[in-house]
Amino acid sequence: METGSIAERFRERSILITGSTGFPAKMLVEKILRIQPDVRKLYLLVRAPDAAAAEERLLTEVVGKGLFDVLREQHGASFHSFIKEKVCPLPGDITHQNFGLGNSEILQLSQDVDIIVDGAATTNFMERYDVALATNTAVVIHLCQFAKQCDNLKMLLHVSTAYVAGEKAGLLLEKPFQIGARHYDKGHTLWLAKYICADESYGRDVTSTIGTRPSIPGDMVINAMMAAINSHWKKQAQVIYHVTSAHQNPLPLSLIVESMYKYFHINPRTNKDGKIIKNKRVLMFKRFAYFQAYMTLRYKVPLEMMHAANVLFGGIYSKNYKKLNRGYNILMTGKGVRPICLLQRMVRASF
Ligand SMILES: NC(=O)c1ccc[n+]([C@@H]2O[C@H](COP(=O)([O-])OP(=O)(O)OC[C@H]3O[C@@H](n4cnc5c(N)ncnc54)[C@H](OP(=O)(O)O)[C@@H]3O)[C@@H](O)[C@H]2O)c1
Repeated sequence: METGSIAERFRERSILITGSTGFPAKMLVEKILRIQPDVRKLYLLVRAPDAAAAEERLLTEVVGKGLFDVLREQHGASFHSFIKEKVCPLPGDITHQNFGLGNSEILQLSQDVDIIVDGAATTNFMERYDVALATNTAVVIHLCQFAKQCDNLKMLLHVSTAYVAGEKAGLLLEKPFQIGARHYDKGHTLWLAKYICADESYGRDVTSTIGTRPSIPGDMVINAMMAAINSHWKKQAQVIYHVTSAHQNPLPLSLIVESMYKYFHINPRTNKDGKIIKNKRVLMFKRFAYFQAYMTLRYKVPLEMMHAANVLFGGIYSKNYKKLNRGYNILMTGKGVRPICLLQRMVRASF
């Protein structure tokens, strides 16, 4: 499919996007505005107490970011009027019915919206289970209920994560989700969301779910999202895509890590005081057991020595020991997922 024809799909369309202060949804907002300035409206649901606060978040946390520099340059002095005309921030919360919006707003949205992109989630691997369940799972019920009210909806796209595929290795075939498989903690709530999404919407509206892996560059994910919207326009089916590296043209995490290292070597990052942050190579482990062994030798053994010294010297290292030990435990109970999150944060820092 030609890029041009995908861009055409968004001409004169209104899109409700959740999670635009987050990573993939923010990139989607930028890309749509850049390649299809004739989009009718982007409604961005932003967590905020009122309209003014939502607008403030839009300006500082979405369009104010370096990611929008190309657009800013393209539009010059009219950038802000362009954003004002095309983007409508809505103060809301996905965990509430109708996202906590008023009746008149919901009515207007339901009459206008052609596409819904759900990019909101809690991505905190240490999240309390009830909060994760409310944000990543129950929310899909509200989303589907709203989708059913929309007169002109052509597409509902739910963004998720590849972790919902569980811990299987080898060739993974795409097939509808069934209750009973093993999943990661946060993936579990997101997998349930997919299941509900399928159950609530199947046969009514087009529903597509995009699962992505942390090692896939964000622009590829956004392109896949837009291509999925285009390909399944008005089609009555539920389709699940995994955006991931495959046997053909593989993109190993090691290549991304090395590219990032080289990039930040040439373009060093600075801290708040303008000092250059040392560019370190990210450690990569082929097996979780190697990671555990490294962590034990590098951190656990010195921590235990600190603990012994603490007991010996009447608790003078108590505060430090507790802090470091807590950090160690958080890292290790994250089952190695935490380092990947740190890596993602480094990628985000470049936007
Ligand atoms: N980032 C990646 O590289 C990546 C990779 C694979 C998959 N994904 C998937 O993409 C989805 C979004 O991830 P992300 O990286 O964008 O996460 P993120 O950066 O943490 O952003 C999450 C977004 O959801 C919003 N949100 C959370 N709770 C909300 C609520 N109750 N009401 C309204 N908005 C709420 C957040 O708003 P606030 O700003 O108010 O918190 C934020 O905009 C997840 O399903 C994730 O698994 C992301």
